[in-house]
Amino acid sequence: MNMLKKSRDSTLDATRSSDSRPCTVDGLLIRLRCVERSYSVGRSQFFYVLRDIILEIAEGDFVSIMGPSGAGKSTLLHILGMHDHAWSGEYFFGETAVHHLKPKERATLRNEQIGFVFQQYHLLDDLTVYENLDIPLSYRRYSKSERAALVAGMLDRFQIVAKKDLYPRQLSGGQQQLVGVARAIIAGPRLLLADEPTGNLHSSQGEKIMELFRKLNNEGMTIIQVTHSEKNASYGKRVIQLRDGWIVKGEQ
Ligand SMILES: Nc1ncnc2c1ncn2[C@@H]1O[C@H](COP(=O)(O)OP(=O)(O)OP(=O)(O)O)[C@@H](O)[C@H]1O
Ligand SMILES: [Mg+2]
Repeated sequence: MNMLKKSRDSTLDATRSSDSRPCTVDGLLIRLRCVERSYSVGRSQFFYVLRDIILEIAEGDFVSIMGPSGAGKSTLLHILGMHDHAWSGEYFFGETAVHHLKPKERATLRNEQIGFVFQQYHLLDDLTVYENLDIPLSYRRYSKSERAALVAGMLDRFQIVAKKDLYPRQLSGGQQQLVGVARAIIAGPRLLLADEPTGNLHSSQGEKIMELFRKLNNEGMTIIQVTHSEKNASYGKRVIQLRDGWIVKGEQ
């Protein structure tokens, strides 16, 4: 598929903005309308990584995004996670029009509502397990004692109390990812995003993470994961397939 395209056609924009459906729909956590992401590759030429993404995700859903390498899966996840701002289209998170927010407002929304799990864990090497778990709480208005209680609760729930004073390099991959998931959910996000969360793990460690995701979803957390594994995808409720930046299956 030819992904190079001249800059956006204004008549197309006019057609899209005529969509008069309400901005928020009951029970939906996420609504994307005509989201596109491109990189400039020369004068007036763009390489489109995501094309015309229309997507609705209900509160409490567990969605797996699949597709070949380079299809745009991580790109989509980073837009949903509000890490990336250089896209066009509309993104409603609950009642909030993310596309109208200023960078600082998006960061606040992200810190309060979204947890992110990375394939490479992305723990802070110079901080202990305890300190890594405390970081997301420092962005929120918790007292010192509330923070201590939340960290203790997570250590207990994930059975890593004995590891609390160790540094990430002193943990196995599976243990690091447990800390990664604990860090992502410690502040009680509405949405958990995970980009190939078991990609670096042995199958039994991966299963443990997937069982954990299933449990979190059963408790009501909305989860969107990127995975190359059919088995991991089967833990979710539905699959969205991406190809060359287009949703080819699973679109609502
Ligand atoms: N900064 C960038 N500049 C130009 N192109 C980029 C940039 N970042 C990503 N891309 C391109 O965007 C496309 C989608 O990348 P993305 O990381 O979303 O793929 P992916 O589906 O997550 O692949 P994988 O399964 O390998 O992780 C790729 O073709 C990639 O080269
Ligand atoms: Mg990726």
